[in-house]
Amino acid sequence: MRKRFFLMSALLLAILTPVLFLTACQKPAPQQVTAVKIADGEIDPAQWGKAYPTEYELWKKTEEPTTAGKSKFKRGFDADKITYDKLSEFPYMALLFNGWGFGIEYNEPRGHAFMVRDQLEIDPSRIKAGGVCLTCKSPYAPKLEQEKGLDYYKTPYKEVLGLIPEKDRTLGVACIDCHDNKDMSLKISRGFTLTAALKDMGVDPSKLTRQEMRSLVCAQCHVTYNIPKDKDMKSIGVFFPWQGSKYGNITVENIIKKIRSDPSYGEWKQNVTGFKMAYIRHPEYELFSNNSVHWKAGAACADCHMPYTIVGSKKASDHRVMSPLKSDLKACQQCHSESPEWLKEQVTAIQDRTVSLMLRSGYATATAAKLFEMAHKAQAEGKQLDKAFYDKAKDFYEEAFYRVNYIGAENSVGFHNPTEAARNLGDAVAFAGKAEALLRQALTKAGVNVPMVVNLELNKYLDSRGEKKLKFQKGLEIKDPYGTTERLLMVEQTK
Ligand code: HEC
Ligand code: HEC
Ligand code: HEC
Ligand code: HEC
Repeated sequence: MRKRFFLMSALLLAILTPVLFLTACQKPAPQQVTAVKIADGEIDPAQWGKAYPTEYELWKKTEEPTTAGKSKFKRGFDADKITYDKLSEFPYMALLFNGWGFGIEYNEPRGHAFMVRDQLEIDPSRIKAGGVCLTCKSPYAPKLEQEKGLDYYKTPYKEVLGLIPEKDRTLGVACIDCHDNKDMSLKISRGFTLTAALKDMGVDPSKLTRQEMRSLVCAQCHVTYNIPKDKDMKSIGVFFPWQGSKYGNITVENIIKKIRSDPSYGEWKQNVTGFKMAYIRHPEYELFSNNSVHWKAGAACADCHMPYTIVGSKKASDHRVMSPLKSDLKACQQCHSESPEWLKEQVTAIQDRTVSLMLRSGYATATAAKLFEMAHKAQAEGKQLDKAFYDKAKDFYEEAFYRVNYIGAENSVGFHNPTEAARNLGDAVAFAGKAEALLRQALTKAGVNVPMVVNLELNKYLDSRGEKKLKFQKGLEIKDPYGTTERLLMVEQTK
């Protein structure tokens, strides 16, 4: 009797739901049939939600905090309500990024719903580049870029934000960013960045498969980009530095070559060295797609971050995008038969090894930076430094910096491509060590005494940051799981 009641109500629900039931196959095709029409150019997710309520409700959940304690390193935005300050986690970053926004306030990411809200809350130096900062935040970005042209990039952030209708001003990534309103197939909405970069690698955008699109919709934002500047340091565009690379093999070497090739890509001045530098941001797509085991296995970002989930009687892609550890590695079980505990141990083991190398290369690079500071002081006092040694040290220092920057900005702590992350950081250790050796020799030859232990003066960079006077939180600091970094540093560098 009860069984029949259930059957009846399920049937009734099926008839009433405007959306067709999905079949139980591994990857249901996008739903094609809906009673509600979505107008062309409709940005409001609530309107899309009328046709697809399940996905809409899941999408809204990116606003909710995730359970604390499930992820060892990506602790941002958990129910413990702590803002995880990346500069306290990795103090060498405070020294290396001192000179602009990232050295003032830099937090671990949180849910998609917060992308614009977090920009409004962060130290204002982080949005100084102008309207261009909305490119991977607001669904209005493609429209603004088209309508305002060059002005979109350089007009002050708040002014460009003011052009967005008030009710949508803090709206983050929306349905229209990833979907075609006609058939819900996946779509790239940011042609001016992603499609252009794909074409630079010889990819024909009309030939991309559905599985490729399940990563590329994310690659609209989870990539590194550069904001070239004119001579007055005003933003004049945005591009992905993928030139010279191949699809499936975007290398850190090519990225560094590109961003070092033109001074107009320099976006800030590093205080400790006085060098004008470019910058690398969240290169998730680049690291993952560079010949990783999972890329080669045909996995896409959506496989691990948007797995199929059952809501009521419906199967849908989980639009509550988050760390797979925070949803107990359910996503992995589509392909893996190992237990969640086994998988989690593997993730953590990969991340522990990556963190150890991040710290080692980060501190080696910070040490070289401090020696440049010493070298510049000596030069100011009239000492002559061997030019060949100095130039080579600078070259190697920048090579180290960008590799440290690359893996540090990538958000998986090595998981997306463990061997490649280790290779990049191993190279960073080598470049930084060589830079240090050259500088030590040049300084010694010029009669400057270099101490065995270089004092990094980290608290100078960590404390009293920006308008909020942010302070170092020792409790957040991530230590080398193997203690190697501490041994190499010889003394405790933070307090
Ligand atoms: C329009 C740009 C944009 C697109 C498209 C996008 N993201 Fe994000 N994503 C962001 C930003 C920005 C953040 C950080 C938000 C914050 O901290 O306020 C973020 C955060 C995340 C996080 C961390 C969430 C958390 O709870 O800490 C994950 C995981 C993620 N994105 C994965 C993806 C995947 C997978 C895709 C593709 C299906 C995707 N993103 C598409 C911009 C984007
Ligand atoms: C094989 C599974 C897998 C694939 C494929 C994958 N990721 Fe991840 N991703 C992970 C794991 C595991 C982590 C680490 C989560 C943690 O430590 O909590 C992670 C972390 C992240 C984070 C940081 C999450 C946070 O909570 O801060 C972002 C952002 C992210 N991935 C985006 C992407 C994007 C974009 C792609 C595609 C280019 C992608 N991922 C492909 C498994 C995957
Ligand atoms: C960051 C990109 C992204 C955003 C934003 C996004 N989706 Fe999706 N959506 C996907 C991906 C990836 C799939 C899987 C598509 C596939 O496999 O072909 C998907 C699938 C779907 C499907 C097909 C059925 C399913 O669940 O797999 C529907 C319907 C859908 N989304 C509706 C929405 C709605 C409504 C919104 C806004 C509230 C939205 N999506 C926002 C990326 C996104
Ligand atoms: C689309 C299928 C797919 C998904 C989803 C997937 N994997 Fe895998 N994974 C593979 C394949 C295939 C391999 C290659 C080795 C093999 O054949 O078992 C692999 C290898 C691995 C390895 C060993 C290789 C390495 O890089 O160290 C680990 C660890 C791993 N996966 C963890 C995970 C975790 C954790 C998740 C979820 C966050 C996940 N996988 C999601 C298919 C998948």
